[in-house]
Formats: sequence, C-alpha cells, structure tokens
Amino acid sequence: MITAIDFNDPSLSLDLARVSEAAAIACAPLIGRGDEKAADLAAVDAMRAQLNTLDISGVVVIGEGERDEAPLLFIGEEVGNGTGPDVDIALDPLEGATLTAKDMPNALAVIAMGPRGSMLHAPDTYMDKLAIGPGYASGVVSLDMSTRERIDALAKAKGCNPRDITVCVLERPRHENIIEEIRSTGAAIRLISDGDVAGVMHCAETARTGIDMYMGSGGAPEGVLAAAALKCMGGQMTGRLLFRNQDEKGNARKAGITDLDKIYTCDDMVTQDVIFAASGVTYGKLVAGIKREPGFVSVETILMQSKTGAVRRMLYRNPV
Ligand code: FBP
Repeated sequence: MITAIDFNDPSLSLDLARVSEAAAIACAPLIGRGDEKAADLAAVDAMRAQLNTLDISGVVVIGEGERDEAPLLFIGEEVGNGTGPDVDIALDPLEGATLTAKDMPNALAVIAMGPRGSMLHAPDTYMDKLAIGPGYASGVVSLDMSTRERIDALAKAKGCNPRDITVCVLERPRHENIIEEIRSTGAAIRLISDGDVAGVMHCAETARTGIDMYMGSGGAPEGVLAAAALKCMGGQMTGRLLFRNQDEKGNARKAGITDLDKIYTCDDMVTQDVIFAASGVTYGKLVAGIKREPGFVSVETILMQSKTGAVRRMLYRNPV
C-alpha cells in the first residue's frame, strides 16, 4: 500500500544519499584523467545499481536521454525494486563530466525523488534560467526584466550597491551580451565552464559561495534538478524553455507541454515535496569533492527535503 508516510520515511532519504554517493565514488579513479565518457559511464552504472536496491517503484523522468540514445537510466526507465511508493526520479549521475575529466570544480552526482507525477518532463532543450537565494520578496527579479534591471532590483532588495552583487553565468558565446551588460552595472561575474545545477544551488548559500544570482541558458533537464534543489534550500528560480527549431518544439509537445512560452517557477517544475541528494565529485564550495587516501575514499553529500527544509551534509568514508 502506497502512502505519503512511506515516501517521507527518513530511511528513504538516506537511501537516496547512498545513490548519489555511489555514483560519485565510482568517478574517483577517473577524476582528472581526461576521459569524460568513462567518468559518465562509471557514474551511470553505479547510480543505477544502487537505485535499483531502493524500496520504490520509480520512473526516471529526467535522465540520461531518450531510450534510443541512452541504454541506461533513460527517460521512462523503471527503477527501484518495485516494492515501495510510486515515485518520479530526476537524476544526473555526473553533472559535469568535462569538469571531472579536467578536475575542475563543482562536478556533482545528483538525484531527486518526488511522488509520481510531481516533476516536469522537461524535453532536451535549453532553458533560460534565473535564480536567487532565500530571503527576498517573491518576484523581486524576473525573466522579463533586462539584465541590468535584475541586478538593480536585487541590489536594492539586498541593500547594497550593484558592485556588491556577484552573478554566476555559464561561459558560452551565446551569453556574450549578458556578460557585457552585467559588467556595465559594475557587478562581478563568476564564469563557469559547466555545471549549472551547482551554479543555481550556489545562490541559496551566498555566504558560503559568494554567489547572489544565477542567469543564462542551460539544459532544461538540469533546470528541473536545480528547481528541486532550490525547493529544498529556499530561494527562487524561474525558467522558460528555449527552442532552436521546430523539432524541439515538437518534442516538447510530445512531452505534454502545451504552453511553450510558459515561465516556470520551482513549484511548477516540482509540484510536490521532493527529496534531493548531491554528492561532490570534484572540489567545490557546496560540498567537498572526492578525497582519495591510501585505503579509502571519502565523499560529501548534501541531502535535503523540501517538506521540512532540512539540509544535511554528510561525509562518508568507504574502504577501497
Ligand atoms: P555535462 O554534460 O558535462 O554534465 O555538462 C552539463 C552542462 O554544463 C549543464 O550543467 C548545462 O545545463 C549544460 O551542460 C549546458 O549546455 P551547453 O554545453 O550546450 O551550453
């Protein structure tokens, strides 16, 4: 019998942390080895094996891709041992494969779990994203504002000068205009080469990370994962799907999306309570990366629940 109590069982959230830990640990020997495919494969295999031990009847809604392109953890794959609650699973076994291959910061193994039907089935398109941390009035910044307006509004709400705001942006040619406009306000920019789930999460812990706001376009599936994280950590994120061609629009319609211009909030992307776990693969300010020492490997995981707002950081040491 499936009940809300089953889903909120604390041991289930600990089980979820074990899933992201397993994926991160599997990457340990591949950090800095220049082989992003091998790192990704190792993470996928380990995450899937651990996920299938969980007492859930899960369906992957955000995964490695469509069935014909991703043999494991594809969208629609049933996961878990089939004995527990019906849940949606959003995952990215290695968010930042290139970061891992180059040993650059903030590669994460990420997974979120919510009741069945609670997560947006985001198609494989880009999403325009805007995120800030907790403590601000709802809608203080919005996707409809210009870059300058967003920075001015956030600085006003924070009671500081635009120069004291730091914005995180993916370094891509498509973001040249945004970057130029941010610079013209005097605000600082932290450019990242990959990993915008971590980029968005950085906004929720400004004192730790130094990031006030995230903006720019990145993967829509990563947008849902980031929304799940912020739903637990607090903060605001909005996203609007971006389509490069008619095929992408068609894929969105097939995924059940009718309003292609909709601006999604965190609650639109993840409509019910969610559990979220992210384990550090490479070093970062949110969680430490994998540490390898003779005889063991250790991994740090951030485990969170939107229902309680609980955020735990856990260090796991595993003998090898
Ligand atoms: P990985 O494939 O290495 O995990 O990279 C993921 C990522 O950097 C996301 O964080 C981001 O949303 C997306 O790729 C950006 O896509 P693009 O590289 O096409 O700009």
